[in-house]
Order: sequence, then structure tokens, then C-alpha cells
Amino acid sequence: MEANKIRSKFLKFFENRGHKIISSASLIPENDPSVLFTTAGMQQFKPYYTNSQNADKDFGSRNITTVQKCVRTGDIEEVGDATHLTFFEMLGNFSFGGYGRREAIAYAHDFIAQELGLEISYVTFYKGNDNVPRDEDSRKIWQELGVKNIREDGNDVFWGPTGNSGPCGPTTEIYCKNEAGEDVEIWNIVFNEYFCNGSREKLDKGEASLEKLDVLGVDTGMGFERLLATVQKKKNVYETDLFNNEKTKEERIVADHVKASLFMISDGVTPSNTGAGYVLRRLIRRAVRFSKQPLAQEIEKIKKIYKGVYILDDKGGIEEEENKFRQTLQHSLKEFEKGVDPFILATTYGFPIELTQELAKEKGRNIDLADFHKKMAEHQKLSQTSSAGMFKGGLANHNEKTIKLHTAHHLLLAGLKAIVDKNIKQRGSNITEERLRMDFLCGRKLTDEEKKKVEDWVNDKIKEGLNVVCREMPLSEAEKIGAEMEFGTKYPDIVSLYFIEEPAKDGSGKNGNVISKEFCAGPHVSNTKELGHFRITKEETSSQGVRRIKAILE
Ligand code: ALA
Repeated sequence: MEANKIRSKFLKFFENRGHKIISSASLIPENDPSVLFTTAGMQQFKPYYTNSQNADKDFGSRNITTVQKCVRTGDIEEVGDATHLTFFEMLGNFSFGGYGRREAIAYAHDFIAQELGLEISYVTFYKGNDNVPRDEDSRKIWQELGVKNIREDGNDVFWGPTGNSGPCGPTTEIYCKNEAGEDVEIWNIVFNEYFCNGSREKLDKGEASLEKLDVLGVDTGMGFERLLATVQKKKNVYETDLFNNEKTKEERIVADHVKASLFMISDGVTPSNTGAGYVLRRLIRRAVRFSKQPLAQEIEKIKKIYKGVYILDDKGGIEEEENKFRQTLQHSLKEFEKGVDPFILATTYGFPIELTQELAKEKGRNIDLADFHKKMAEHQKLSQTSSAGMFKGGLANHNEKTIKLHTAHHLLLAGLKAIVDKNIKQRGSNITEERLRMDFLCGRKLTDEEKKKVEDWVNDKIKEGLNVVCREMPLSEAEKIGAEMEFGTKYPDIVSLYFIEEPAKDGSGKNGNVISKEFCAGPHVSNTKELGHFRITKEETSSQGVRRIKAILE
């Protein structure tokens, strides 16, 4: 049975049993800023477990079914084996007080055994702990359904919460044998009986507590690719019709990571140095490292597979990141061979530590991870102090918008020096999500013509696609090369400078003309192309001899 058939069969099965079909939510969770990605079907329904009556209002039903796009990067090392993926789909049925254990387990049993004709290898139930009783009910229900192999289990079969708090509870899982004869977890059926006021980590450490929910919630999740492999009698997920029979670990990593990236970008993520954007960047970079061909071919194959199911469009985003990284990669590999410190590889060349670790493993070399983390922590402390100094109150929260405006801020200063007066000095700055603001020393109002010229200059630099590179160096050296400093700020002995520079014309990977160099902790975009269109919205006086410009990116 093909993937498309099984998706509809699943939804239909639950629709026929009083469930409302709801579309997959975006990979970027809307109602929970404490998680980067949608990792489970229940995430879009989190609020309904505590306010079940809202489900009637919003969906006209307390029972829901979905096929949800998910991303999980916790098992990224395992990608390439028979079952682990970073992008996968989850088939699920949910209830907010509409039904309980008996129905949930019977539905799952029916679907697996009758509809799909699969044999259940074994099921699990929760053995309980000091706070949560043993799930005898689930055990009995399975027994009544005639399932022979019923196993009790511990912490693994207590699920949730996702993020910083949320519903959670004991689960019962269904395992089936795959073609290789291994038992694979197919379906996880969670009974959300509690609300946890902290994260799972805190709960496990005894630092969070559980409160009983008013109504019993049901949350189930079936890993679609694993299910397919079992139904289609394949040894691994890559042999199903959602892949192209990738054989080597490298090919599989590329197929998985490009797929995840394509789905992420289609849902609005762009590669960056923080949050979801960083995860995306890591995935693309890891794919580049393992791919012998341009990723474009992989993208086309994936689009074909999901045609008519999901709308996928990366708008050239993967290729752009790929091109940027191929250069870095060559460079970093050479530096790695020379034994350059992983910290320098990460901060100066943008080579993720995960890749350095993998390389080291391949070459049988040891890297001092503790040393790396120590240096990174110092680096971040330094970043925080100097960014606090430079962007007082303005840039506490780095996100896509502030990061872009931050780079535009550097270009604006360089533009003012190039067009108006090369001796212009910055006297203060502030960045919000909407705009940047820069105060600079200048005794007179700028003319309209000057403003227009500065704007054009900045927009030209954006269009030229200049590289933005961070380099660390001793303070004395940074002063010697004449980098822009913030007046009145005390800098540490080792500083980070941001350079905006032309790519080398000879393709040597080295950089060409430097357009801007500033003391700065970042973060920044890695190429000015990412900025969009720059516009000055205001030029006014700030105080005696100081002018103020406000500008936006649009
Ligand atoms: N929310 C449960 C899971 O992700 C079903 O496994």
C-alpha cells in the first residue's frame, strides 16, 4: 500500500469514528515559544487539554485526527539507520475528554490488526512511580483484546510535557516486527492525565510537579515512515516510497537533511545563527558535507515524492546556503587538517562543532570538547558584555529581524563615511524589530541628496552579496587596523570584529576589499544579500553636534 493511500486510510478510519480531520500545523509552533519546532502531533492542540470545552467551539468536536509534519533533531546521530529521521510525519488521533483508554486502545488495535493486517509483536504499559500509579487499566484492556505479549516499562512510557510546561501522562506503545526481524515502536498512545508545571528535564529531576487534569486527554502518535516500512515489508524507511532507496549512510543523511530543510524553509524558516534558523543551517551544512552532488538534484526528487500532498518551495534558499558553505568547507577542512582549534573553526570559519566532532571521529583524532565549551562560554560572555555595551537595551533579543538590522547598521555607518565624511563616528545605537537607530557625530543636517546617496550606497552593497565574517584578535591588533569602536566602551583583551567584505574575484576563497570593520559581538547575517531593501525613514538632530538616523529594511 502506497504512502498516500495509508494517510487517507488513517484519516478516514478516525473520521468514521467521530473525529474531525484537521490539517498539519506549521513546523514552527504557534502557541509555544519554548520549543523550536513541532515535534509531535499534539503540539498544536496543547491548550485544549486544559480547556477542553474550547475544542467544541473551535473544531465542533472533542476528537481530532491529523497527519502532522514533525522535526526532531535529538537523534540526528542515528539518521542513516533503519528508522531514525529528522523530518517525519506523525499520524495521530486526539481527544480532549471525548473518550478514554478503552476506545483509544481499541481504535489502535483495530487499525493495526484489522485495517493494515499487521501483527503486533508486543505492547507496553506504565509501571508507575511514587507520584503516578501503575497503568493497570491499559494492561487489562490489551489483555481483553487478546494481545499476548504485554510488558511493563518505566520512564520511557511516561510522555511529555513538550517545552517548558504542558500536559503529560503514561503511555502504552505498540511494537511490530520489521522485515529485518527487529521490533520497531510503531504507535505511542498517551493518556494526558496531568499538567506538569515545568519541563520534562525538571520533572525527572524532581524540580517540577504534576497536577491532575480535569478531563482525561488522549494523544497518540504513529511514526509514518516506520509504519510504511513495516506495511510495505521493507528493511528500512529509505526503501519505502517516501525515499529513493538510498543505500549508504551518507546518501541517507543527505536525503533526510535536505528533506527536513526543504520543509522548514517552506514553513518560513531561513538559515541564521540562532534558534530554528541555526538548526536549519546545521542541517544544510551537514548535507553539503556528505553530498557528492549539488543538493538541487535531491530537492527535485523530494518535491516529486510529496507532489499533491505538501506545497514545497525553498525559493533557492538551500542552494544559497550550500554555495556559501562549500567555500567555507574547503577552507575549514584544510584548517582542520592543520590541527586548528575547534573553537577557531567555529567562530572564525563558521564550521559547526558537530561537524568538527564527526571529522575527528572519522580520522581517529581526539578533540577537547570541555575546552571548546569553556572557550565558547567565555566568548558568549564577551559577546553579551560587548553587545550590552554597544546596543544598550536594543539588542537583548536576537532574532531574524534584529540580526538583519544589525548588519544594516554596520553598512549604514560605512555608507555615511563613504558618502558624507570619512571622519564620521558613531555615538550610539539602538535596534528594535522594526528599525535601527544610529547617532553619529556630525555638525549639520544631511541634505536630501546625501541621504539618497547613502541609501543607494547601502542598497548597492546589499545587492553585491558581501560576506560578513567574524574574526577574533587581540585588542591591540584590532586598534592597529583601525576598526570602528564605540566611544566610551571598555573592551576586553581579545575582541571580535565583524568584517563586511567582497568575495575574492579569483575564486580563491579568500576575501577581497573590506567595506566595513567594526568591534562587535554580533550576531550578523552571513551575507548582505539576506537584508532586503534599506530605507532611511528619518534624519534629525539628537543633541549638540550629534545627528540621528532611523532606518528600516523592507
Ligand atoms: N505525543 C506522543 C509522541 O510524540 C504521541 O510520541
